[in-house]
Amino acid sequence: MAAPKILIIPGSLRSGSHNAKLAAQAAYEFALAGVEVTRLSLADFALPIYDGDLQAKSGVPKNALNIKRMMAAHHGILLVTPEYNASVPALLKNMLDWVSRVQDPHETRGQVFRQRPFAIAAASENRLGGTRALAALRLILASLQAHVIPSQLSLSFAHQAYDDMDKLKNPADSEALQALVRQLIDVSRRMM
Ligand SMILES: Cc1cc2nc3c(=O)[nH]c(=O)nc-3n(C[C@H](O)[C@H](O)[C@H](O)COP(=O)(O)O)c2cc1C
Repeated sequence: MAAPKILIIPGSLRSGSHNAKLAAQAAYEFALAGVEVTRLSLADFALPIYDGDLQAKSGVPKNALNIKRMMAAHHGILLVTPEYNASVPALLKNMLDWVSRVQDPHETRGQVFRQRPFAIAAASENRLGGTRALAALRLILASLQAHVIPSQLSLSFAHQAYDDMDKLKNPADSEALQALVRQLIDVSRRMM
């Protein structure tokens, strides 16, 4: 059976982002597992804040269409989110809002969310490790009828979690990431 292709989307643009580092480490683990992996930066897909008037006037922005098509070209998607005020950052929510409005020919709207599995992970500097953002993200994805795998990763004290090479220092964190990666690969393969 062909290996699934996995898309990783970190929800932070910040240089030195803990979540971007987690996304990079996840990409490494996917590659080690023999899977083709793409890591997207939302900096390359700038989007205006969702506005129904803007959509009515100009349609869905090209970048939302491009992200949707990148999602469609992969078999599984990992979202890695920071936690802002106990929820998902506007950057990630806004991207999901726009992508959920894409209507490609011969497709129903939101089909891209329903046809492939999602995994979610978060990194934060406090003890909770972004668990509230993960709960919020799971709710958003559930409203889009996405299949979100049961396992999730929350990386606590993320400012102390990486070594000089930006690798996870704690073997328990690496093992949790590897388990998440394995589960997303398995479910992606089953849904291919
Ligand atoms: C507006 C704002 C709100 C935040 N709220 C939370 C929060 O509710 N919980 C939390 O763990 N961290 C919170 N933080 C801290 C972020 O988790 C921290 O800045 C994290 O490093 C951001 O992710 P990044 O490193 O990937 O950019 C907040 C940061 C900002 C800027």
